[in-house]
Amino acid sequence: MIKRNILIASAFFSFSVGIAQQYGGMWIPTELNEKEMKDLGMKISAKDIFNTQKPSIKDAVVQFNGGCTAEIISPKGLLLTNHHCGYSQIQSHSTVQNDLLSNGFWAKNNSEELANPGVTVDFIVDIKDVTKEILEGNPNLETAQINANIQKVQSTIKTEPGQKVMVKSMYYGNKYYAFVTDTFKDIRLVGAPPQSIGKFGSDTDNWVWPRHTGDFSMFRIYADKNNRPAEYSKDNVPYVPKHYLPVSIKDKKENDFTFVFGFPGRTTEYLPSIAVDKIMRDTDPARIAVRDVALKTLDEKMRADDATRIKYASKYASVANYWKKWIGEVEGLKKSNAVQKKATYEQTLISKNPDIKITLDQLTQLYNEQAPYALNNAYYTETIRNAETLALANLFSNYIAAVESGKMDEKNTVAFKNRLASFYKDYSAELDAKVTAKLLALYANKTAPTYLPAGFEKYKNEAQNLQTIENLSKNSVITGRSEVNGASLSSDIDKAFSNPDQLVTAIKKDEMYILFNSLKDTYSKTADKQYTSLQTKIDVLQKKFMAQQMETDKERKFFPDANSTMRVTYGKVKGSSPRDAVSYDFQTHLSGVIEKYVPGDYEFDVPQKLVDLYNKKDYGIYKDKSGDVPVGFTATNHTTGGNSGSPALDAQGNLVGLNFDRQWEGTMSDINYDPRFSRNIMVDTKYILFVIDKFADSKWLVDEMKIVK
Ligand code: ARG
Ligand code: GLU
Repeated sequence: MIKRNILIASAFFSFSVGIAQQYGGMWIPTELNEKEMKDLGMKISAKDIFNTQKPSIKDAVVQFNGGCTAEIISPKGLLLTNHHCGYSQIQSHSTVQNDLLSNGFWAKNNSEELANPGVTVDFIVDIKDVTKEILEGNPNLETAQINANIQKVQSTIKTEPGQKVMVKSMYYGNKYYAFVTDTFKDIRLVGAPPQSIGKFGSDTDNWVWPRHTGDFSMFRIYADKNNRPAEYSKDNVPYVPKHYLPVSIKDKKENDFTFVFGFPGRTTEYLPSIAVDKIMRDTDPARIAVRDVALKTLDEKMRADDATRIKYASKYASVANYWKKWIGEVEGLKKSNAVQKKATYEQTLISKNPDIKITLDQLTQLYNEQAPYALNNAYYTETIRNAETLALANLFSNYIAAVESGKMDEKNTVAFKNRLASFYKDYSAELDAKVTAKLLALYANKTAPTYLPAGFEKYKNEAQNLQTIENLSKNSVITGRSEVNGASLSSDIDKAFSNPDQLVTAIKKDEMYILFNSLKDTYSKTADKQYTSLQTKIDVLQKKFMAQQMETDKERKFFPDANSTMRVTYGKVKGSSPRDAVSYDFQTHLSGVIEKYVPGDYEFDVPQKLVDLYNKKDYGIYKDKSGDVPVGFTATNHTTGGNSGSPALDAQGNLVGLNFDRQWEGTMSDINYDPRFSRNIMVDTKYILFVIDKFADSKWLVDEMKIVK
């Protein structure tokens, strides 16, 4: 079967086929398949990529603020990441008079770089396989003992002062790895293009190829006089890295070798076919349905009213991001025949090891048993997330529980109030009353009566709901539309909190709050408990199924599912033909930006200066042999969320692109990578340098870098 897979894959793929082309792969950088990488065209060695004895490429790759990736591109600690990864920092320095999101920002020298308290950058100092120490050779070791062993390992590995050790489970608990990390805390904003370049195409183009977004921003790591991490201080100096990435502006060719280094967040590549079937038929569609309603309601108002548009821009983008991804995922799972492919693979495994049938039968039974609860879980969690007033009620419910158990001290209260204040800042209670009304109607209609609070049927009628919920919202304290302690929570939070007992009493009588609590209570009793306890059983069997796959399929090299740890993925620069008669080139150009340009448009406007540069063809050294500036390109690298900002490197380890997205037709790669459709999307280094040099007149930054021509 594996052999057959290779044949199928090679029919679609004309170049030499390795594991990465069949299954994708996000490899632990200490365990690279060097031979395969070299067969695909790599010219450096695995030791050049990860080495604890000598500077190596890993020393230039960092986790940016816990969720994205960034890379060092100069001997002075200059960092490159995505615009969408630096978005909230750029936003935080913006005011109405000085709107850095709209205008962009470019420091003219080090002294103009802007501090960002709270932002961190993590280096990986070392990675160790500690499976023996954690599991003591016993795959069924009890959880309590495993946790004790993790503590022990974390405290015994030797580190420099300030470094940390983090043990992470891999292969569903079949292996454990320790990561030694070094965290820098003085990270300054150096430059960002206006969002008409950095977010060009916005939600319409998100997850879509062909793409023309200059999704990059630049920061700099600062260190103390000894080049060690330090809190912000004006005396800190630019960090001197062990290694930084040379930036290549050579022309790209289809089939060039490329690899991506970064911190992918989460994948589930080894699920049984039954689980994939449930995601495709039940849970993804449920999540999509809830977000469909929420997004439509928001969009209508955002288009009509500018203030609402600004308030909700970032929230809308984040809701729309996964909504669109899941739609692509469902399509892709169908199109790639994922369920059938996994089922066939399972039969092959069973033919070699009949015990696997027992595991799979048990898993099938559990997933079927869990299905109604999982569906309810999907509807409930999405409803609570997207009906903001319910999410708010949830916050207050946790607050009251903390007050009543005596955990709400001074410090926690301040933190809670700050959290609320930032929530109210971007919240429209009137608009959300509509969203909540519609989502409750959807929930009432899609949920079996056994999982609904008594009398909840009355919420099935959307038109009636709009009235009911608007009334509840208007008279509610938590929405801020009704006062408590003589003030509204949304306009004078200190006054509203001035008598906490009064506040708690008022909230407990708040009908919006009561409605939320009846929902939550019923959900947790009738579905959540069952869902979680079945999931615990599934997790035990998934660990076993993972081990059985690895023991049985000896020819296949298994990478551990992504879990926000450092990984390397590799492949080739490549276009694709994802649909009948549609074929995608691997590269886009500046002329394509101008083709999409809609003056004054919210998503497709372009700065005049970029248009001028285009008209004058003032491209300097950044054009390719076609005479145009390359903007984006695709490759077969297997990436996921968290790989944003990841460096794309060439065969020599030079930076050639900045990862920021995947193409829509291949987003099922989180569950079933398919070499025919799965592509990662990168900004071309030529476009990045062109924008810095020609558009932003910040040649001083290019001069810091090592440019490979
Ligand atoms: N789809 C990309 C990534 O998950 C980019 C997201 C940011 N861009 C946007 N238009 N929302 O997550
Ligand atoms: N944009 C994603 C991120 O923020 C990366 C794209 C993907 O999911 O592959 O991490």
